[in-house]
Amino acid sequence: MQDRRGTRQRWSSSLMFVLAATGSAVGLGNIWKFPYLVGKHGGGTFVLIYLACLLLLCIPIMVAEILIGRHGRRNPPVSVDILARQAGSRLSWRWLGMAGMVAGFLILSYYSVIAGWTLFYIFEMAMGVFGGFDALEVERFFAAFIASPWKQIVWHSLFMTATLVIVARGLQGGLEKAVELLTPALFLILLILIGYVLGTGEFLHGMAFLFTPDTSKFTAETVLAAMGHAFFSLSIAMGVMMVYGAYLPDGVSIVKASLIVAGADTVVAIMAGLVIFPLVFSNHLPLTFGPGLIFKTLPLTFAQMPGGTLFGGLFFVLLTIAALSSSISLIEPTVAWLVEEMGWTRDAACWSSGGICWFLGLGTVFSFNAWRGFTLLDRTFFQWLDFLTSNLLLPLSGFVVAVFMGWVVRPELSRSVLNCGDAVFAAWWISIRFVAPGAVMLIFMQAMGLL
Ligand code: PHE
Repeated sequence: MQDRRGTRQRWSSSLMFVLAATGSAVGLGNIWKFPYLVGKHGGGTFVLIYLACLLLLCIPIMVAEILIGRHGRRNPPVSVDILARQAGSRLSWRWLGMAGMVAGFLILSYYSVIAGWTLFYIFEMAMGVFGGFDALEVERFFAAFIASPWKQIVWHSLFMTATLVIVARGLQGGLEKAVELLTPALFLILLILIGYVLGTGEFLHGMAFLFTPDTSKFTAETVLAAMGHAFFSLSIAMGVMMVYGAYLPDGVSIVKASLIVAGADTVVAIMAGLVIFPLVFSNHLPLTFGPGLIFKTLPLTFAQMPGGTLFGGLFFVLLTIAALSSSISLIEPTVAWLVEEMGWTRDAACWSSGGICWFLGLGTVFSFNAWRGFTLLDRTFFQWLDFLTSNLLLPLSGFVVAVFMGWVVRPELSRSVLNCGDAVFAAWWISIRFVAPGAVMLIFMQAMGLL
């Protein structure tokens, strides 16, 4: 039942949608970025603000995006356009979908590089390379790896190829098959690792760190970082949920599905923190925040623990799986757009856009070596990409999604697509019309020093 233009493609069940959307949401953001942001921004303070952003802004925006896709049934720019025309708007809203696609594309370029690192670490762990290493040796190992553009390019290429092989096989033949395997595997490995960590005796210490607020670190930037990360972590504001929503079978509750996906995403982020912090504390290691937390502190921890090679290896398998089920979703909006609007075959759309994305990724690779010295306002190419996408593009595009749904699309239409109870609809409506746009703008302007 699939035509070549892809508009009639559907997930084979609502469970498939939930698995795919959860797979997209749960990624490096949860396991690599969330713990180090928590550490950097004062533990529980960050967690609390993050949860507030999720509930008040991000879940309603996620519902809005799925709604747009589900009603338009096309790629993001066209779906947005369809709704705008039905609402009688004369403004060109299509660029909203475009902006999201571009953000996803930029994110994938660096995401694949970092995922390449995790892939490399699986092999190094499995070969017991870290056995007996001390802090200095682990540090040197990581430094030598990122200093080598070639090594990183090889692993970045492998990861990107894996992503493209899956996406090129299409919705039911590629994405569904992948998430059916990857998403449950991810939860299973996380549970095994939690079991392992429970034995370290530092579990409560880790919990306390995650849940005790340290208000001294609270700044406007903390709020922006928490909000930007909540967008990133839920995979919203970049067309992903729109395109996944476009494949949603009729009759599935969008609100329920969104709550499940957001809940699963949060549980994984907290669980990842509960794996990482006790491990670090149990070895009396200093908490280093930033990318090194996963690639330096953890290998060292595992190197010093019984069974460390096995569990350390599993940890990096977990990261790679999480990254893969996210990366396939990052390129899907662009592929859908090229297939549906440009009439390209899925193969051509996939390999050419993936190729460009791979090429862009080289900029991130070089940010750690050849271009390390080239900084603009103290940020490397990679740090600019991360900052521009997470802290600027995502909140702004989330803001526009909220304005679009809250002020342009008629509530009767949203109501009929959402098909939920009065109270739920009212809560969503208030958030999408007032709370989400207002709060996103306030936080954004405050952090940019405009207020
Ligand atoms: N949500 C993913 C993560 O937390 C990243 C991602 C962002 C994936 C946007 C798809 C779209 O790692």
